[in-house]
Amino acid sequence: MNTRRHFLTRTAGLAATTFAGPNLLLRGQDTASKRLNLAVIGANGKGQSDTQAVTLAHNIVALVDVDSNRLEEAARRREKIHAESNAATPNVPKLYQDFRKMFDEMAGEIDGVIVSTPDHTHYLAAMHAIKHGKHVCVQKPLCNYIGEVRELHQAAKNAKIITQMGNQGRTMEGQRLAKEWIEQGVIGTLKEIRLWTNRPVWPQGPIKKKLVECPANLDWDLWLSSEPSEPYFEFDLDEATAKKNKRSPGPHNFNWRGWWQFGSGALGDMGCHIMDATFSILGQLIPEKIDAESGPITDLNAPAWSRLVYHMPAGKHPALKVSWHDGEIDGQPNKPERHPDIPEDTFKKASSGMMFIGTDGVIFEGDAYCKSPVIYPLEKFTQVRLDMQAGKIKKTETRSAMPDNPQGEWAHHIVNGGLPSSNFDYSCPLTEFVLLGNLAIRAQQTVQWDKDAMKVTNAEAPNQFITRPSYRPGWKAS
Ligand SMILES: NC(=O)c1ccc[n+]([C@@H]2O[C@H](COP(=O)([O-])OP(=O)(O)OC[C@H]3O[C@@H](n4cnc5c(N)ncnc54)[C@H](O)[C@@H]3O)[C@@H](O)[C@H]2O)c1
Repeated sequence: MNTRRHFLTRTAGLAATTFAGPNLLLRGQDTASKRLNLAVIGANGKGQSDTQAVTLAHNIVALVDVDSNRLEEAARRREKIHAESNAATPNVPKLYQDFRKMFDEMAGEIDGVIVSTPDHTHYLAAMHAIKHGKHVCVQKPLCNYIGEVRELHQAAKNAKIITQMGNQGRTMEGQRLAKEWIEQGVIGTLKEIRLWTNRPVWPQGPIKKKLVECPANLDWDLWLSSEPSEPYFEFDLDEATAKKNKRSPGPHNFNWRGWWQFGSGALGDMGCHIMDATFSILGQLIPEKIDAESGPITDLNAPAWSRLVYHMPAGKHPALKVSWHDGEIDGQPNKPERHPDIPEDTFKKASSGMMFIGTDGVIFEGDAYCKSPVIYPLEKFTQVRLDMQAGKIKKTETRSAMPDNPQGEWAHHIVNGGLPSSNFDYSCPLTEFVLLGNLAIRAQQTVQWDKDAMKVTNAEAPNQFITRPSYRPGWKAS
């Protein structure tokens, strides 16, 4: 057993026996003034705003990024936030390129870990944190394989830590309002839900690799992490696609999204936002069957567009269909049919959105988060707002302690107890809901899902996409 493995095993044992509640790691501070010691893995990109969400209220003790330039930039930007806010001079975080080294060297100083890396390292980094007994806040989607989501969920339950996924919509008022309106009969009986996004806005669909020299600032092998070792590459794109690509020439940074290994396509990128309100409104049910249609895929690449139908069992509402549209077909947005009550202009402007269609009206949201849903016909919306003021329509959902700040909300609950809005009991099944669509896309067929057996029952081939094919030695924490 190597030293790192040995250390992990010992620490995990310690966590299991002594880690009984959310505040144990807070080193004797009183609750009101508690500042957590937090580490951010994947410090640049989304990790920047995730850091900013907590840096003034807590101590960022470590920043980790496999790209040394981006790591230093993340550290500078964090200092700037403090300088601009006139907040006390912050402690200086330790900087690492390998999160395993961070845990080896300073696990004892860390209370919680934010994971904002590309999707393929969420599971690895979060599992290392959990095995060390740390609270975790992981960006969406929690993982890009259903098997990993299930493992992470179980490990977090065993460790009794405070968990969160970074889907900010779950902390917002709008999603709660839409659920309350529907449950209190505002649009009659819920019949159908239509969801869509203009993503991918990055190269996606079959893409060839072009081997080039790796930039000196990037540790490509650490970026690949548990994936098989391979030379650094960029994309070999046709001229038109290359012109449209506003980001990096290869997978690092941002453009890993269209690769099954590293990302989870347009659905995985946006599903945990756009499907979130649906998942909550339908009572957190898992679909029984998913139909899929898409543009071409490969073993490596997700499609440029897809159309999915999730068949939802009856629960709080009658059995119904949830449809998903993404991307463009022949240069035109691949959107669902507009409900006639929604004005054409309003619908046209909505690059992502959702329609909850009832027997007596429709709730429309033209963004990904269900931040400000609107009821059509508008006279009904006016009446609903009056009824809310008069207390005739009641607020039944628990409100977030820190709306629009999932990282801050997570830290708040570590200090004060209680559960974050998108804790793993909610966000693991939500991620599974989303990833089931990818299972159908990758299998290029309808899949029937037995959630208890974690298995596709109408064909054997799709089951190969449930768990990651392999892990390089030295990366899995258990
Ligand atoms: N909630 C949201 O609104 C939202 C928005 C954007 C991205 N995200 C999510 O955040 C995550 C990151 O996305 P992004 O767009 O910032 O990607 P990105 O590639 O732009 O940034 C990721 C950063 O992580 C670093 N990194 C890569 N592998 C690493 C590793 N093994 N260890 C440490 N650092 C590593 C990269 O160098 C890079 O700086 C994704 O899961 C994405 O889905 C969420």
